Amino acid sequence: MIKLTDKVVIITGASSGIGLASAKLFANAGAKIVIAARRESILQDVAKDIAQQGGEVRVMAGDVCSEQYHRNLVEFTLAEFGRLDVAFNNAGALGRPGPVTEMSLDDWHTLMQTNLTSGFLAAKYQIPAMLRNQSGSLIFTSSFVGFTTGFPLQSAYAASKAGLIGLTKALATEFGSQGIRVNALLPGGTNTDMAREFGDSEEVQTFVKNIHALKRIAAPEEIAQSALYLASDMSGFTTGSAMLVDGGVSVCKT
Ligand SMILES: NC(=O)c1ccc[n+]([C@@H]2O[C@H](COP(=O)([O-])OP(=O)(O)OC[C@H]3O[C@@H](n4cnc5c(N)ncnc54)[C@H](OP(=O)(O)O)[C@@H]3O)[C@@H](O)[C@H]2O)c1
Repeated sequence: MIKLTDKVVIITGASSGIGLASAKLFANAGAKIVIAARRESILQDVAKDIAQQGGEVRVMAGDVCSEQYHRNLVEFTLAEFGRLDVAFNNAGALGRPGPVTEMSLDDWHTLMQTNLTSGFLAAKYQIPAMLRNQSGSLIFTSSFVGFTTGFPLQSAYAASKAGLIGLTKALATEFGSQGIRVNALLPGGTNTDMAREFGDSEEVQTFVKNIHALKRIAAPEEIAQSALYLASDMSGFTTGSAMLVDGGVSVCKT
């Protein structure tokens, strides 16, 4: 198993799905983790579980749309654990699907703030903390949607996730010489609350499975394994990448 022994990691979106699976996996790999999301009571339950398994975990709840929250999250991490090695910026939302001609500017802005501006704010405060040690790994959860695949009625989501890939590439070049790696992780369909929000009916679920080469969607733990790789020194020469972990949804035409 890949180890993250004594690495200090922030994981956002850790109250469910991919972030929750990653919190458990990273703690089990030896990391000291700070878990983040808005639903504090769920985070506290997750932390209790992880601590019972011997993991080192702290909780800081808040909204990734807030600049103050990002500043506080990094300060809290440094106060608790003394350094920051990895940030898995994974929190995200699907937003209200609909035709672009009927989308309100408010809905557009809200999704951009949640999925894309949050990435800028995270980097703004996380990178200076990592530069103290001249090393670090930032990971942004993007998506195949907006990169290899267009879906109707998902324009804001697609634009926000594609924007994260641009941010990733720019930051990788801006800070690579100072030991900071930056990568985007692009999951395919993954069995989480978000996938159920996309469509809960048997018909939609069958459609989604069938557009993947593997004819299934991922378990959140499978995506967490790839995040673990990007977080760890095993991916020491990987930066600026848009890493597809998508069950072949990007290549499947059958
Ligand atoms: N599931 C898929 O098929 C799929 C495919 C490709 C990419 N992704 C991406 O994977 C990431 C994780 O999603 P998931 O599938 O694991 O879905 P999920 O179970 O719905 O998790 C979303 C997480 O983001 C947090 N979050 C949402 N808005 C937030 C906000 N404003 N401030 C702080 N935290 C916020 C949620 O926590 P709270 O509600 O407690 O705040 C939750 O922990 C997302 O970025 C998503 O776009 C998912």
